[in-house]
This record gives sequence, C-alpha cells and structure tokens, in this order.
Amino acid sequence: MSTNQLDKKSQAWSALFSEPMSDLVKRYTASVFFDKRLWRADIQGSLAHAEMLNAQGLISADDLASIQKGMAQITSEIETGQFEWKLDLEDVHLNIEARLTTLVGDAGKRLHTGRSRNDQVATDVRLWLRGEVDELGVLLTELQKALVDVAEQNADTILPGFTHLQVAQPVAFGHHLLAYVEMFARDAERLVDLRKRINRLPLGSAALAGTSYPLDRERVARTLGFEAVSQNSLDAVSDRDFAIEFTAAAALLMVHISRLSEELILWMSQSFGFIDLADRFCTGSSIMPQKKNPDVPELARGKTGRVVGHLMGLITLMKGQPLAYNKDNQEDKEPLFDTVDTLKDTLRIFAEMAAGITVKPEAMERAAKKGYATATDLADYLVKKGLPFRDAHEVVAHAVKDAIGAGVDLSELSLDQLKAYNPAIEQDVFEVLSLRGSLNARNLLGGTAPAQVRAQVARHRARLG
Ligand code: ARG
Repeated sequence: MSTNQLDKKSQAWSALFSEPMSDLVKRYTASVFFDKRLWRADIQGSLAHAEMLNAQGLISADDLASIQKGMAQITSEIETGQFEWKLDLEDVHLNIEARLTTLVGDAGKRLHTGRSRNDQVATDVRLWLRGEVDELGVLLTELQKALVDVAEQNADTILPGFTHLQVAQPVAFGHHLLAYVEMFARDAERLVDLRKRINRLPLGSAALAGTSYPLDRERVARTLGFEAVSQNSLDAVSDRDFAIEFTAAAALLMVHISRLSEELILWMSQSFGFIDLADRFCTGSSIMPQKKNPDVPELARGKTGRVVGHLMGLITLMKGQPLAYNKDNQEDKEPLFDTVDTLKDTLRIFAEMAAGITVKPEAMERAAKKGYATATDLADYLVKKGLPFRDAHEVVAHAVKDAIGAGVDLSELSLDQLKAYNPAIEQDVFEVLSLRGSLNARNLLGGTAPAQVRAQVARHRARLG
C-alpha cells in the first residue's frame, strides 16, 4: 500500500476533504500516544460487539471468526511491542480497526456496523476505569490493614492530641491512626458506590442518536459485565460525569493522604521527634550531611495538588459543552490516567511506609505532659463532685495559670495546693490527672481508651478480611 493510500485509509471521512491535515493539526488532534493505553478495553468491546452483530444476523459467522482471529493477533502484537501505532490513524480505535482490516480484509470493515467512535470510546473508558477502580479498592484495603497493624501495636501509646496544633488532650497513637483508617474506609466506600455509575454500557448509542440496526444491547452488556445499559444515546456519548465523580473521589482520597503526610512530616521533624520513617522512604541533602528528609510524604502532599487539579480540569472540560459528543472529551484521558497512576503508586508506597514506621513513645509522652493535657479531666472530676461544668472550667483555669507560673504540671501540685482551688479535691485526683488515667477514662464508643482502640482494631480486621 502506498503512503498515499494509507493516508486515505486513515481518514474514514476523506472523500469529502480536499486537502490533508497539516502535521501540526495531526499532532494536535491525535490521541493515540496516550489513548493506546485503552487498547485492551477497545478490543474487548469490539469482540463483544462483533459477537452480538453475528448473533443478530448482521455479520456472518465467518466474519466473526475472522475478527476474533485478527484481534487475537493484534493482542499479541501489542503485548510483544510489535504493533506499530500510527499518528496518522489518530487514536487507539482507528489504529486497531485499520490493523484488523489489513489482517482480515472486509470482515474488519464490517466491525464498525451500528457503532461510532463516540459510543466506542465512552465504552472503552468505562471498561478501563472499572478495572482500575477495582485495583484501587484492593490497594486501599492493603493500606488500611497496614495502618490497623500499627494502631494495634500502639493502642496504649500516649500521643498529645492537638486542636489548633496546641496540645489538647492525650490520645492513643493507635486511635489517631485509626482516624485515617476511617477516612480511607469512606474513600473505599465511595469507589464502590461510583463504580455502579461507571458500569453502564454506552454501546448502541452510536454517534449520538442510536442506530437503525437491531442491536442487542443487553447482550453486549452481559458479555462485558456491565450492570445496566444507558437509556439515552445523547447522554451516553457525551457525559463524562462518571469520570469527574471518580476524580472527585480520588482528590478526596489524596487530601486524606496529604493530611497524613503532613503529620508524618511534622512527627519526624526534630521539634516533635515522635516517629522515624524507614530510610528507604527518605533522602539526604547534597549539602547538609546530617539531613534525612521525608521526601515520600512531601511528594504525596505535593501530588495531591495535581489530582485536585485533574478534578478541576475534567469538570471544567464538561462545562459549556452542548450535547452531544464534542472533541473536548478527548481531553478526559490524560487527567484520568494520571489520577489513576498517582493514586496507585501513592497507595502502594504508603502501605509499605506505614508498616515501617518507628514509633517513639517516650517523646510522644513527654510532649503530652507539656501542655496541661489533663486539665479537662480535672474539670470533669469536679463536675462529678457536684460542680456545674462552667464553674469547674473556671476553677481549673486558675489552677493551670498558677501551674504555668510555677513551671509545673497540674499533677505536680500537692494535694493541699489543689484543695485550695476546691475542697472537694481528694487523693484520687492524681489518677485523674495522669495521662494514662485520662486516656482510660474515655472508654465509650469512638473514644480513645485503649480498650476502645482494640475493639476498633477488631472491627476493622473483620471488615477488611
Ligand atoms: N479519540 C476520540 C476521543 O477520545 C474518540 C472519539 C472521536 N469521535 C469523533 N467523533 N471524532 O474522544
């Protein structure tokens, strides 16, 4: 085939056109160099379509067999890196179809019966994304399991809990980690939920209006494992809300990762010194020999911006598009691909990193002792002795002020000194003023008592399998 013929062939619409595209326009409009990633979904979709065309008497059994044989060969060509992707053939769909026709002749040309690239690409992206969402679900489970393990080992470890980044009340380090497990569990739940809306079949919508061929859409849906068939052709070829929704869930997941990253970075700094990350997740400095930098969490925090950006990109892409398909939608792929890649790498690395955290309980406890973290416990103690909470709050504020002045902790005041604030105070106050007493006291559902942390660990284990 001469180059000329190939060019003609590459342009399904070419008879109408009197001049070829410039190289720049070709490069600008082509998507093959990124959407070739969809090849497996594209072939899977084509095979389901062809099988249905045959079942409906629209193509012969011989044609179907040729298409299957050709697609098997293309699969192996792509897998072994022998397939020649051509910019001239614009996108993954036309590249594969052209190769099929080269391999099997007219049968290849019959494949596109009752189909358009518009419903084809919408199908491909859905198929691909569905698989990725499932993989992400597995990775999220792994990360949660890793965090649950560290939480279990630290059900008793005292950490200063912060509000406004000021020491507030002691919490178990395990309890703190399980807060992230809750977030990641909701992220996983969101993926499961949005998967239902990804998992609907656009094929049969053709370019925008449906098709005059008697296609059996339900059959194709069954073959491809779609739960439902789209009910409006215009909607099916044009909307990408499933992708936007996915990116929104991804952005939120990354925000959770980013918050955890921020804490890991703080905890690892000399000022906190609460944890150490394994060396393999850190880098040194080319100038300061003493440095060990938490690059992985820093990068994850940075990559969060990128994923949030992809959400903005996709949602803006949709804004202002009239029905039905517009080429704008070709721009959905790179942000989606990058979102998935970023998430997969990040989740994998975080599961490993979590498992390798070294906890420094003494440093945590020392820091918890500094901030009058049991002041609320003293107020609660007085309430139990009959004082109204607001009065108790005021009494304790005075005690804290005096203790700050004397440079001691509340628990370091003598019983007589404490009694001066309220005569109801007895010897048992010292248990209440201890960090551990404070922790143990919060023994209700959702609280930080080690017993509660262990119960939550068991619940998560049962849930995560
Ligand atoms: N590469 C295109 C995309 O990603 C495929 C659909 C093209 N359809 C069209 N009418 N030009 O959206």
